[in-house]
Amino acid sequence: MQALRNLFVCFLLFSFLRISTTSTLDTITPSRYIRDGETLVSAGGSFELGFFSPGASEGRYLGIWYTFDTKAVVWVANRETPLGDSSGVLKVTEQGVLVLLNTSNRIVWSSNSSTTAGNPVSQLLDSGNLVVKDGNETNPDKFLWQSFDYPCDTFLPEMKLGWDSSTGLDRYVSSWRSTEDPAPGEFSLRMDRRGFPQFDTMKGAKIMATAGSWNGIYFTAYPYPPQTRENQILGYKFVLDKDEIYYEYRLLNRSMFSRYVLNPSGTAQRFTWVHQTHSWELSSTLQADQCQNYALCGAYTSCNMNVSPSCACLKGFVPKSPKDWNSGYWSGGCVRKIPLACSYGDDFLKYTGVKLPDTSSSWFDKSMSLKECKGLCLKNCSCTAYANLDIREGGTGCLLWFGNLTDIRQFNPGGGQDLYVRMAASELDGIEKKSKFNREKLLGILISSAVFLVGTLITGLILYIYGRRNSEIKESEA
Ligand SMILES: *[C@@H]1O[C@H](CO)[C@@H](O)[C@H](O)[C@H]1NC(C)=O
Ligand SMILES: *[C@@H]1O[C@H](CO)[C@@H](O)[C@H](O)[C@H]1NC(C)=O
Ligand SMILES: *[C@@H]1O[C@H](CO)[C@@H](O)[C@H](O)[C@H]1NC(C)=O
Ligand SMILES: *[C@@H]1O[C@H](CO)[C@@H](O)[C@H](O)[C@H]1NC(C)=O
Ligand SMILES: *[C@@H]1O[C@H](CO)[C@@H](O)[C@H](O)[C@H]1NC(C)=O
Ligand SMILES: *[C@@H]1O[C@H](CO)[C@@H](O)[C@H](O)[C@H]1NC(C)=O
Repeated sequence: MQALRNLFVCFLLFSFLRISTTSTLDTITPSRYIRDGETLVSAGGSFELGFFSPGASEGRYLGIWYTFDTKAVVWVANRETPLGDSSGVLKVTEQGVLVLLNTSNRIVWSSNSSTTAGNPVSQLLDSGNLVVKDGNETNPDKFLWQSFDYPCDTFLPEMKLGWDSSTGLDRYVSSWRSTEDPAPGEFSLRMDRRGFPQFDTMKGAKIMATAGSWNGIYFTAYPYPPQTRENQILGYKFVLDKDEIYYEYRLLNRSMFSRYVLNPSGTAQRFTWVHQTHSWELSSTLQADQCQNYALCGAYTSCNMNVSPSCACLKGFVPKSPKDWNSGYWSGGCVRKIPLACSYGDDFLKYTGVKLPDTSSSWFDKSMSLKECKGLCLKNCSCTAYANLDIREGGTGCLLWFGNLTDIRQFNPGGGQDLYVRMAASELDGIEKKSKFNREKLLGILISSAVFLVGTLITGLILYIYGRRNSEIKESEA
């Protein structure tokens, strides 16, 4: 009986301890640190920070995961330097630096801040962001350090993906090496800001797939605006000014959870938490089809999943190497049948419903009209195409391409956007005549079919009436 009571008291104490350690602590200070086995939980209860071992790995890592799914790790501190045992300690120093220490009290990982704080604290916010700040500071611009500036394989709501010119920080997502090794793998998801920014999935230095550039509402590699896709649970933002260029998304409903993960094999997937089934649902984002492979068809082509073969030269272009092209090696692309005349009169051929070309050699202006954009393109012989920068309000701004046009994709009617491709005027005459000829031919066919149809009907009617009359006569005779 006594033993049972002791056990009961023990149990009570244990539950009390558990509650007191897990339910309140979201902050560490120089005088209060956590060790392996202890965790921080964000104030709203969404995220937890602590030590873990992925899969069968024996290494111990400091990471952040969802409280309701500890397997969904969203961030790892010591990606490349696992601890060999469960003796890790996370501290924040008097200078405001987060340090991860091993048994021998040696620093295994540390945060990196250029400024110091009078009263440094490190807090796990309910967005999943681990921050170091001075006392009660709530302004993110004044944080000394934040894990959101150093994404791992997960792009979370309220994270910025892109470039900060004041600090030179380039925030990008990088895959884990394997499901059991969080060290940076081969794949990354990052902003390419050589021209008008676009977002690429890369394998090493090679672009594998691109989400394309931002058209004011969504990325151009998506056929339709997001409202129809993500069921209006997410809000999107693309910021481009002199200080920053980044992409960010937010949850419109605070009780929903969504994460975008680049897995070890280089596939980027969005997951949304479904409360009813208590599981992550894969929301299909970019179409994972053949045309999604970067520059599959080479220069001056368009990729279309609805036709076979998927690759076709743009109008007025022919395969650079017909032999390769016909045997399915499309990456050599196409070349002009008639070279550009440059100042002697070129014009543009309009394509509708397309994904805009790779913008790595593009130029842009936010305020120019489409007409001014065309004029500017005509003035420079290496300008090969133009389009509106922003498709809202009937289209604003100017986007110009210099050099090869690659990674154009043709969407179904109703999707995609407009692109104007530069052509020699003589080539354009040919294309327009041809389509005019086709129109005339079609009209001719239509008219002759109509005449035939009407003729048949009339003949039929006459025969019918004639036949009836005959039978009526026969009936009256009978
Ligand atoms: C602690 O970390 C230091 C530096 O990385 C390393 O040299 C040492 O072997 C580690 N000690 C243990 C017990 O893992
Ligand atoms: C820390 O910051 C310095 C200067 O800003 C930089 O040179 C260094 O690479 C950074 N270290 C880490 C681990 O990020
Ligand atoms: C933080 O805020 C609390 C209450 O809002 C206050 O009591 C405390 O002194 C503040 N600490 C600092 C360092 O500003
Ligand atoms: C937010 O999501 C929760 C859970 O799915 C739902 O019950 C609630 O009605 C939503 N609220 C709004 C404003 O959409
Ligand atoms: C244009 O494309 C061709 C292949 O189609 C390639 O050889 C050439 O390097 C490309 N030029 C530029 C400037 O990208
Ligand atoms: C045409 O544009 C290219 C690329 O922006 C630039 O290097 C070149 O100087 C321009 N040429 C003229 C004549 O403006």
